[in-house]
Amino acid sequence: MIEARFPMAITSRPRPLVAGNWKMNGTRASLSEIKAIADGYDVALQNRAALLICTPATLVLTAAAACLGSKLEIGGQDCHAKASGAHTGDISAEMLADSGASFVIVGHSERRADHGETSTIVKAKAEAALRAGLRAIVCVGETRAEREAGKTLAVVRRQVKGSLPEGASRWNTIIAYEPVWAIGTGLTPTIADVAEVHADIRKTLRGALGADTAGRMRILYGGSVKPDNAAALMAVANVDGALIGGASLKAADFLAIAAAYR
Ligand code: 13P
Repeated sequence: MIEARFPMAITSRPRPLVAGNWKMNGTRASLSEIKAIADGYDVALQNRAALLICTPATLVLTAAAACLGSKLEIGGQDCHAKASGAHTGDISAEMLADSGASFVIVGHSERRADHGETSTIVKAKAEAALRAGLRAIVCVGETRAEREAGKTLAVVRRQVKGSLPEGASRWNTIIAYEPVWAIGTGLTPTIADVAEVHADIRKTLRGALGADTAGRMRILYGGSVKPDNAAALMAVANVDGALIGGASLKAADFLAIAAAYR
């Protein structure tokens, strides 16, 4: 295990990404938190990790404007697979890009559960993101029932293979492993469980994309990441950053998590 990770750690460790997912939270009043994150994202931290906040679509334009001159990136939380058309209420990747987004989350478990999104749909959305010049954060993760049935690796493998966009590269695609039962619950998998799933995702990526791309593609962990557990989770092999829900809403908490990379 140690021998296997040592060369990769030295030669090709991807630059970590600490990403916030605000979900359906935030109004213009919350832009002060975005500004506080941008202000706290100093050069020392910029050298260690990329920072991103995925706001609700209503805030992408103003949040991106508030971040001009800062390295803090702004992203969306979902996009339609098509560029435009008769899809009331939907938002395209092109629209997010036009508003100043540089990333978009696709296939979050809340979208998979609440909107019936299959991996086929998620793949199409990820391809739309790439077409629009956005980087796609593709989410995968097992439910509690699947974990208890010993199906975690099989479920995650199937989701990764089924959701990866055509043309995926280390630059344009990020995987986020988010166990559904760890989201918003305060529960996290053990360090050993996180290590096992992330190593297995790396292996799946190697089979799909080859060793070079797979070794440099970022694999984020998400699910109840907080300031007090971030350092331990971010130190796990093959964890290249975090996707943070609740704790990303307050600049102080988000920056305290990002500080794990200082
Ligand atoms: P929490 O950090 O609130 O558990 O949410 C995780 C998540 O779903 C991020 O996408």
